[in-house]
Amino acid sequence: MEEQQSLPPHVLIFPLPLQGPVNSMFKLAQLLCYSGLHITLLLTENIYNRLVLHTDITSRFDHQFHGLQIKTISDGLHDDHPREGSKFMEVFESLRTKTKMLFKDMLTSDLLCDGGRRRRVGCIIADGILGFTCDVAEEIGVPVFCVRTISPCCLWIFFCLPKLIESGEYPFKDDDLDEPIRSIPGTETFLRRRDLPGFCRSGDLEDSNIQLFEIEGQENSRGYGLLLNTFEELDSPILNQMRTICPNLYPIGPLHANLKKKLTIENTSSRSSSSSLWTEDRTCIDWLNNQLPNSVIYVSFGSVATMTNEQLMEFWYGLVNSGQRFLWVIRPDSIPGEDWKTKIPADLAMGTKERGYIVGWAPQEEVLAHPAVGGFWTHCGWNSILESVYEGKPMICWPYFLDQQVNSRFVEKVWELGLDMKDTCDREIVEKMVKDLMVVRKDEFLERANHMSKLAKNCLMEGGSSYSNFERLVKDIKSLSDKV
Ligand code: UDX
Repeated sequence: MEEQQSLPPHVLIFPLPLQGPVNSMFKLAQLLCYSGLHITLLLTENIYNRLVLHTDITSRFDHQFHGLQIKTISDGLHDDHPREGSKFMEVFESLRTKTKMLFKDMLTSDLLCDGGRRRRVGCIIADGILGFTCDVAEEIGVPVFCVRTISPCCLWIFFCLPKLIESGEYPFKDDDLDEPIRSIPGTETFLRRRDLPGFCRSGDLEDSNIQLFEIEGQENSRGYGLLLNTFEELDSPILNQMRTICPNLYPIGPLHANLKKKLTIENTSSRSSSSSLWTEDRTCIDWLNNQLPNSVIYVSFGSVATMTNEQLMEFWYGLVNSGQRFLWVIRPDSIPGEDWKTKIPADLAMGTKERGYIVGWAPQEEVLAHPAVGGFWTHCGWNSILESVYEGKPMICWPYFLDQQVNSRFVEKVWELGLDMKDTCDREIVEKMVKDLMVVRKDEFLERANHMSKLAKNCLMEGGSSYSNFERLVKDIKSLSDKV
């Protein structure tokens, strides 16, 4: 036991098996490692296999982060079971019912102790939506911190779902999606029905999403504290609302920038390594190197969103007709069941050759940091928003699902950092918005984006809000682990 206590505290991090959460938890794992903790990053086998295929994770952490070990666990589904987009609820259900026991067995065995070179796990950081991790932690007496990688503004709506139902505002009484929502404290002046999380449109109280997220509000406050990838200066009104239910918050973001800064200080590599589930096409950086400052709009709809062939055509014509230069990520699975490359109209091919560049997956953080990029047309995944905010890039928002409908409203109405085109995908609207963002209202948007970017940078400096919250988190983990 004494020998054990001389070793650093050992923290297990368990992200939700999706690109966004995996990305940010990789960053958190590395940051905690730099603070002298031993970390086990627990990934589902499916996610781990994809990372091995597309990144250098197996060699990278052996050299750079000795305190970080990666372990895998089954998500309970067959290897070839579809896990993308709409199938994710099946993954979630399987994690809840089948992975729970495996998780408990793992924590109560010596499997994670690396032959005595690590203490037993003294603290768990798990995605707040994986409520079973809190059950297991309680059963075996290990403290748990919940972490949420979606936006706090959407999480707050999840917290308020019971209120929304009690007030009679949900399910909606008619089809008017522009009707204001009044029962969510702090958002009364700008939130409409159409800005609620996408699944609210089903209008069905029995919908599995509604039931899951309603319960989830309570799950998040079961841990010792709740970690959020945001910073006080961006989200303070919403964070203050959340503190009424969940008092111990740790807003420690933007995590990607926090890690980048740490890597620079440690003189390791200023470019943080990829945890992409697709292979990055770096030729787009060469293309950007040949463009003028602020002249390119970067277009990417994240790792899950898909579009129909009709939507693809409207977006593409809108972009080409705007006359602006564009870099567009179209993932191999972006247009399900369609081989879009075989039927590209000649005028689009020509316009793209002149002013555009398309890749299957980009090194997004590097793209957004590039001086040639002057705007970002995004699906409003939370990581994408934070990456854009940090680099001071104004946004056009085309939300796809979940928190993205809420985030896009905040981008336009609360932070005033861009334009929300939710529920439309018409070439004329795309053309107008791209011109507005990149030309007509460019200065106005850039000024606000630069201001928010400065705040994001300052919060990571010594004494800044996220810097101090991170220090507090490490201190709390150490003292809780010592008591286990
Ligand atoms: C999912 C949900 O869709 C989102 O709503 C939630 O906020 C987080 O989980 P995802 O579609 O993965 O998000 O979007 P996002 O959160 O933006 O994460 C995508 C990540 O992939 C970003 O970190 C981005 O930098 C990276 N990315 C994206 C690339 O590295 N290359 C690309 O070409 C596109």
